[in-house]
Amino acid sequence: MALGETTAQLQCVQQGGPFKVVHVPKPPLAPDEVLIRQRVIAFNLVDVKQRDLGIGISHWPRVLGIEGAGVIEAVGSSVRDLEPGDEVAGWHGSGAHEIIWGGAFQERVAVATHFLAKKPKNINLEEAASLPIAFVTAVCTIVDSLKIPLPFLPKVISTEGQVPSSVLILGGSSTVGAAAIQLLRRAYPSLPILATSSAKHHARLVDLGATHVVDYKSSTVVADIAALSPGAAGVDLIIDCVSAGASQTDICDVLDPAGSKRYAAVLTGVPVPVPEGVDHMVTGALSMFDMKGGKEIIPSLTKLVEEGTYKVPLPVRVVGHGLEELPNVLDEVKTVSGEKVVLTL
Ligand SMILES: NC(=O)c1ccc[n+]([C@@H]2O[C@H](COP(=O)([O-])OP(=O)(O)OC[C@H]3O[C@@H](n4cnc5c(N)ncnc54)[C@H](OP(=O)(O)O)[C@@H]3O)[C@@H](O)[C@H]2O)c1
Repeated sequence: MALGETTAQLQCVQQGGPFKVVHVPKPPLAPDEVLIRQRVIAFNLVDVKQRDLGIGISHWPRVLGIEGAGVIEAVGSSVRDLEPGDEVAGWHGSGAHEIIWGGAFQERVAVATHFLAKKPKNINLEEAASLPIAFVTAVCTIVDSLKIPLPFLPKVISTEGQVPSSVLILGGSSTVGAAAIQLLRRAYPSLPILATSSAKHHARLVDLGATHVVDYKSSTVVADIAALSPGAAGVDLIIDCVSAGASQTDICDVLDPAGSKRYAAVLTGVPVPVPEGVDHMVTGALSMFDMKGGKEIIPSLTKLVEEGTYKVPLPVRVVGHGLEELPNVLDEVKTVSGEKVVLTL
């Protein structure tokens, strides 16, 4: 086979590794897919959970990775809004994960258009790669789990619910947490939004829209949050982005007894015990398929970022270059603090 007909992919040979670079034929395109020549791979904790624990993996070897950005090389027969040469960022390896072509850890990847956003003109490709997963996960938690409408996403509809009187976001400096803070702030300018993070990130989270930020490492964290809640009565609901409730097991004490007492956790693989009487829900990004208009979520990022409604949630740091280097730097994702780590290709 001529070299131009092949593409490089980083296969994880078995659970736990190792990885190896393999040259394979370029992937065929379904009618609604585009072929992306990747320039950036963004790392997600999901990547190491899949490598180490095999979560969601039915067979090895496997091309892992769920986030990336690059330039479109070809489009499927039914694609209308994207064309070769367009720069895009997306959630890679979702629909594709069960087939050999796999996820983001490769030079070229075929991705359906509803997992993609055109790169907003006002940010770079590294920043764009950091956007889709956190954004869609935060939107699913807010709209699908909690039934809180986001007016700037009018086509994304779940059952209409009640707007909360206050919200606590656990893990405000995670990418999902930083996304959720600003989405709720844009939608509800006067909503009290409390968040937790380590102290060094407080100013950034206030800038994104948090009303108050509390250090989750403080021995008085529960009392600190309660004191800052409206009327010191506690918060209406909790969004847990990082399974913080698994270690802070008394966190539900901050729920207002007269509030809706809801606890929406992002699906992390770590169970969070929640007391009786609290409405516990768990959401992942795949909930986008449960919502009317869910396929509009990721493509909508382009306009929202360009008009300033949504900002790149966290600073982005390049930790390496090239597929060969990826296995040596992937574990950086386990120790991130208020940033997103990416690799360039
Ligand atoms: N199911 C899905 O569809 C889906 C999609 C995306 C992500 N996820 C999962 O959701 C989780 C969050 O992902 P992510 O990418 O947003 O995470 P991330 O950015 O990697 O999270 C790192 C941040 O978590 C914060 N943190 C850790 N423990 C905390 C605690 N007890 N209280 C408050 N903050 C804490 C750290 O804060 P400090 O630095 O301030 O200490 C750090 O900044 C991960 O487990 C990921 O696997 C699931």
